[in-house]
Amino acid sequence: MELTWYGHATWKVQIGGIGIIIDPFFNHNPVSPVKAEEMDAQYIVLTHGHGDHMGDTGIIARRTGATVIANAEICNWLQQRGFERVHAQHIGGGFHYPFGYLKLTIAVHGSSLPDGSYGGMPAGILISAEGKKLYHAGDTGLFASMALIGEEGLDVALLPIGDNYTMGPDDALRAVKLLQPKVVIPMHYETWELIAQDPHAWADRVRQETKTQPVVMQIGATYTVPG
Ligand code: NI
Ligand code: MN
Repeated sequence: MELTWYGHATWKVQIGGIGIIIDPFFNHNPVSPVKAEEMDAQYIVLTHGHGDHMGDTGIIARRTGATVIANAEICNWLQQRGFERVHAQHIGGGFHYPFGYLKLTIAVHGSSLPDGSYGGMPAGILISAEGKKLYHAGDTGLFASMALIGEEGLDVALLPIGDNYTMGPDDALRAVKLLQPKVVIPMHYETWELIAQDPHAWADRVRQETKTQPVVMQIGATYTVPG
C-alpha cells in the first residue's frame, strides 16, 4: 500500500494495480504539485461535500471513468449531474471492493455541496487491504469514539492538524492517543495561512507522548506502508 500526498486532505492510495484518490483537490489547491488533468484513478473517495474535498471529482471522473465512493447524498447529487459510476455507502457501512474493504466512519464537521445543497453527514474513511488498515479522518473535530476506530488496529492514520476548520495540534495529539495507530501523518495544515501549523513541532510531541511514529510528508512524496 503506497500513499502519495498532494497537500491538504488529498491522497492517492495505490493498492496493487488499483489507484484510489481521496478528496481530489488539485486545481484550486495552492500547494498541489499536479493538475487534475494529470491524475488517473479507478476510484475516487470523498469524505464530504466541501469544495476543498469534492475538488476536481468531476474532471477526473469524467475523463477516467473512475467510480466515486461517497455517502448517499453526495452520490445522488453526482448522479443527478450525469455521473453514473457512483457507489453510495453511509456511516458505519463497509463494502468489499476489488482493492479491499472500505468503511465510512463518523466525522464531526459539516458537508454542504458546492451549490449549497445538503451533503449528508461528513465521513472518515477506513480502508482494509493487503493486511493493512488505513484511516483518513476527513475534516473533523476530536471525538471520543476515535477509540472505537482505534480498536480496529490502525497501521496508518491521516489526521488534520490545521485548526480553525478541524482539529488543531492539541486535539490531534489527543486523537493519536485515542486511535493508537502505528504511524500518524498530519494533513490539512499547509494550504492557507489560516491553517498554517508546524508539523515537525507536532511530530515531536507525538514522539514524546505516544508510542505512535509520526511521519511528516513532503507534498508530492510517497509513503510505503511497511509490510
Ligand atoms: Ni470541510
Ligand atoms: Mn477541508
